Parts: sequence; C-alpha cells; structure tokens
Amino acid sequence: MTPSAIVQYLDQYVVGQDEAKKIVAVAVYTHYRKIAKALNDRLEMVKSNVLLVGSTGTGKTLMCETLARALKVPFVTADATSLAQTEFVSEEIDAILHRLLERTGGDVARAQHGIVFIDEVDKLRGLSGQARGASGERVQHALLKIMEGAPVRLKDGQVIDTANILFICGGAFVGLRNIMAKTHTFGFIATTGADDQRILERLNARIKPTDLNEFGLIPEFSGRLPIVASFQDLTRDMLVRIMTEPRQAIYRQFREILASDGVALEVAPPVFEQIADLAIEYKAGARSVRGIFEEMMTPVLYAVPDNSAIKGVKIGSLFEPARFLDAQGGAIRA
Ligand SMILES: Nc1ncnc2c1ncn2[C@@H]1O[C@H](COP(=O)(O)OP(=O)(O)O)[C@@H](O)[C@H]1O
Ligand SMILES: [Mg+2]
Repeated sequence: MTPSAIVQYLDQYVVGQDEAKKIVAVAVYTHYRKIAKALNDRLEMVKSNVLLVGSTGTGKTLMCETLARALKVPFVTADATSLAQTEFVSEEIDAILHRLLERTGGDVARAQHGIVFIDEVDKLRGLSGQARGASGERVQHALLKIMEGAPVRLKDGQVIDTANILFICGGAFVGLRNIMAKTHTFGFIATTGADDQRILERLNARIKPTDLNEFGLIPEFSGRLPIVASFQDLTRDMLVRIMTEPRQAIYRQFREILASDGVALEVAPPVFEQIADLAIEYKAGARSVRGIFEEMMTPVLYAVPDNSAIKGVKIGSLFEPARFLDAQGGAIRA
C-alpha cells in the first residue's frame, strides 16, 4: 500500500489528524520497504519507530489499530504505566511479544512483521530528584532492547526476532509544549516570503528529541523514536463528525440496531453539538462521547422492544425526552 492509499483507508475511520496520518503512513510505508530491501540485499536495516503525541481520546490507539487492519499485520497494545508498576518488566515484555504471536496463531514469521503499540510512555519519565534507575527509566531501558531489534526467547522456548517489528509509542506528554516554547531554536532566523515562514513554523512545531529528553525520556529511548506525529485536540466540529461520519460511528451503529427492529432513528443535528460541548467539558477527547450518546439512547432502547407500534424515534434535544412515532408518524406514548 502506498502512503496515500494508507491515508485514504485511515480517513474512513479516523476523523481529522491529517498531518499525523501522513507522517504515520509514510513511516509505515518506509518501514515495510526497508524490510523488503534488507531481505533482498542482506543488509542490516536501521529501524525508525514512531512516537504519537496527543491528548487522551484524540485517536492515537484508533489510528494504530486501523493501520494494522489496513496492512493486514498483527497488532497488540501494551500500557507503559502497568510496565512501570510491575517488578517483572522483562516477563511483561515477553508477554507482549507472546500476545503478538497468538494473534498470528503461532506464525512466527508473520508475528515478526507486526506492530506493537505502547501507550502512555510519557509516564516513564525519570523525574529530576528521583533516584537513577527508578522504575520508569528501568522500563525505558528494557523496552530499548526490543525496540532496537533483538532475538527474544519466550517462556515456551520460541524465539521472536524484533528487528522488523514496528514499535509505535504514544503519550499525552502534558507540559511538552511549554518545554518547546523555552527551547525555540529557529525563531530568530530572518525570512523572506510566506513559504519560508511556513517552513519555519513547521520546524518550530516539530517535537525534537531534546524536548523529549528535557521532558524526562532518556536519550537512548527518544533516539529510538525519530518519527514524531502530533495529534490535535478535537474541536467541537470534529467531535460531531466522529459521532456521525466514520464507518463505525456511534450514530450509524444505533440506527442499524433500531432498523433491525423496523424502527427509524433520527437524531437532530443540534443534539450532536450538545453532546460535543459536554464532551469538551469532560476533557477526555472523544472518549466521553460514546457514554453520553448511550445514556441518551437508554430510555429509547428500553421502550422500543415492548411496543411494536413504534416505527420511528426522534430526538430533538439532549435535554428532552425522545418522541416515539407510529407507522403514520403519529405520536405514541411509551
Ligand atoms: N480522531 C478520531 N476519529 C474518530 N474517532 C475517534 C477519534 N479520536 C477518538 N475517537 C474515538 O474515541 C475513542 C478513544 O480514542 P483512542 O484512539 O483510544 O484515543 P487515544 O489513544 O488517543 O487516547 C475511539 O475508540 C474512537 O471511538
Ligand atoms: Mg490510547
């Protein structure tokens, strides 16, 4: 798949994040090209793993899952926070690779071309004042080994070579923007022309390894994540689109559920805006959207199965009861 074909596929499921989609698509394309070339030429390949930076609920995990589906490669996620909380880091890491192997039904060769997503790596920061070798840093070192590419012997004796596995790390990195503002490097270069200005702005917006180090990642670890894609906070408009547009959009799902009972569901456009506004208040990106929507649907799904006369449901406001309609469009009390 070419990068543009990957982006087109992602567009069906992930709303917005256009810049991140492009960066990730090119990274993944290059990764699998490198593997093919290294195989042909029997070369060592230098792998570029990817870091996704963005607030919670902005689509980082969704994008990785979708990507793996597009490429038809096995995919697993792991959580850095839980790695930092266990005494048995290397066992936990082995378990991640083991799950990857399970996804392929034991096909080692396919597992070795998979994608591993490690979320919340920002929680591995070594805080200044903390003893060296503190748990977060220990986990970074342990992850380094598999991210660099090494044969790992699993508990059951099978060996997985991680050299061709693509590692994508994610994190919110709260406070990183402030760090970057302090270390602005390109701001004083005099420029002519709007294009130069735009390139400068792009360079300044780029997250550099030194920013990540200042944040608290060890240089060896940030050095293994040379490709960084930033996810935007979701706007109200993006949240509305998330509810309605993607293939798996929640509005589509509920319309289908009710349609299978012969009931037409209609939610008025302002309702989506009301939900989006609430979700923005909850500060969890698109995560809270599903909960709010489901809560709104609960009385509907409670009433409909008991009343076969209901053929239509209209919701005009998040703060008013749904209206139930019969086959002629007349109101029904339910
Ligand atoms: N950009 C987006 N496009 C479509 N759905 C999204 C987007 N961002 C978040 N969502 C929705 O919110 C849920 C949580 O998103 P997730 O990808 O897990 O966020 P993150 O990993 O960035 O914390 C997803 O399952 C999806 O339903
Ligand atoms: Mg996530």
